[in-house]
Amino acid sequence: MTTASLPQDASFPLLRTLESRVARFRYRYRHGEENTIRPVAAAKCFPIFREIYSPSWALRHIPLVLASTVNRAVKKPLVKFLDRRRSPWSLEPFDVIPGFYHRPPADSRDYRDDGYFAFRRVGGACPTLISRITSTAELLAKMPSLTDAEFQAATGATTDLAAAIAANRIFVADYVRLQEALRPQHPGNDRDSRFRDKYLPAPVLVLYERPATGTAPEDLVPVAITADQPGTSPNPMFLPADGDAWQIAKTYVEVADNNWHFAIGHLYRCHFLMEAFALATRRNLPRRHPLRMLLDPHLRFTIFTNVVAYSYFANTGQLYDRMYSGTLEESRALFASSSVAGDSALDLLPSRDLAARKLDVGLARYPWREDALRWEGIARDYVRRVVTTYYPDSAAVTDDPEVVAFATELRSPSFANVQGVFATIDRASLIEALTLAVYTAGAGHSAMHFPMIDLYTYAPTQCESAWAPPLRTKAEGTPTRFRQTLPPVTEALENFYQVEIGHFRYDVFGDFRDYAIGSLDAVRPAVDALAADLAALATDIDARERTAPPRRGYPYLHPSLVTNSVNI
Ligand SMILES: [Fe+2]
Repeated sequence: MTTASLPQDASFPLLRTLESRVARFRYRYRHGEENTIRPVAAAKCFPIFREIYSPSWALRHIPLVLASTVNRAVKKPLVKFLDRRRSPWSLEPFDVIPGFYHRPPADSRDYRDDGYFAFRRVGGACPTLISRITSTAELLAKMPSLTDAEFQAATGATTDLAAAIAANRIFVADYVRLQEALRPQHPGNDRDSRFRDKYLPAPVLVLYERPATGTAPEDLVPVAITADQPGTSPNPMFLPADGDAWQIAKTYVEVADNNWHFAIGHLYRCHFLMEAFALATRRNLPRRHPLRMLLDPHLRFTIFTNVVAYSYFANTGQLYDRMYSGTLEESRALFASSSVAGDSALDLLPSRDLAARKLDVGLARYPWREDALRWEGIARDYVRRVVTTYYPDSAAVTDDPEVVAFATELRSPSFANVQGVFATIDRASLIEALTLAVYTAGAGHSAMHFPMIDLYTYAPTQCESAWAPPLRTKAEGTPTRFRQTLPPVTEALENFYQVEIGHFRYDVFGDFRDYAIGSLDAVRPAVDALAADLAALATDIDARERTAPPRRGYPYLHPSLVTNSVNI
């Protein structure tokens, strides 16, 4: 039978103290210049055999790697051949990239479908960027030249923009943070990376939610796109009636989406946030500590997984340098921008994130919001039940020197640097910090990671870099220019390979059979309640997905598809 104890109840307090001292020696942070991704925390050293992928992890992953590697080897000459033989605007080479192991849904090839393009902002791989516009002034600051007539022509709306804003129906996806991360390559070139081989746009996309009519439900549609931020020139505004120019403008949005997702949404907000929790936990909470038992399932393999990501951020010529639009320095700047700006990590909890984006109201169909809010509540209820089992009040928390050390290190800029947590150390802040960890390790990461194979692998719909400069005029938009904007087909093949070998779920959230907490009687009611909450969520998502319109499905936060930890 597993037992847990707080430090004051430990049978062998000296041994427990020794365990923590050894842990702090074995797990160490990179400090100062030796940390390439500072101020984001990263591990300098850790016990490799404790953190490395287990044999069961590796054995289950090998078939996927073999299948993907064979597919890449076979397809490389084929896609090159097709690329040479087909017309300069042919997309056929992209069609043959997927192998037999994972074939993205046919929907993902509907790159011309504007409704599907819009839906991907609320039910795609990066559903945490869109925000609601609350005033005409706010809209004009982002899209200065959009008129009521253009809005009505694009959407069929009979109201004007002011009325649509007042009805909570105008939204924006503004990728301004990409511009802030850019390092202009040429003096006086305020369009940043325009003259490189690859172009990283910082676009603005305006969207409108059409009201329901008759049997047709509300639907989100795009209104207008600019490839760059206001104030740059030339920066034409593209509208849905602009044919191939519009298609190219959508590609710029998708490129920005991919880069924001890669650096901020996925790696910063999930992988390295959980690395900070992993380091602070391993160093300060001994194995007998109940909160160590709570967190262990949600930290497994994360530090080891991130070693690879750190290497890609640290070394030129590797994956991140080759694949994404920015220079490696820019990708790192984008990655660290949230931390540099002092953003509170607690604001990444869905309820706070949605409030900041003013999306606690509006949008009839926002499946990520529905599911993520449920997951946040489930995580908080579970954490609260475990915490209150051991801590009757805040005084009990501050009486635990191990938790105080954990909290202090987690918020310290010199160590884990998780900003915003533990403004004061008490029971409420402990519950919130642990809720953030449990949510992020599970649903937070799964929402960012696992949709990629479906939604980020067909280049005409979604690609990681634009390979042609943005259009100066709408007349430059042609099928050939669209194809030139997409990656070389060998790059697209490599992207598919990288995403596919990362599409691996080691376990299922809430399955704690391999962990101490799974056999800890004191928290059995909490674990049982968690299982019941997850079952109820699964039932609700199943019901929603059965009736989802075509290209409006969002299965990714179904509990059966969410993992315990950032396991790859
Ligand atoms: Fe991931």
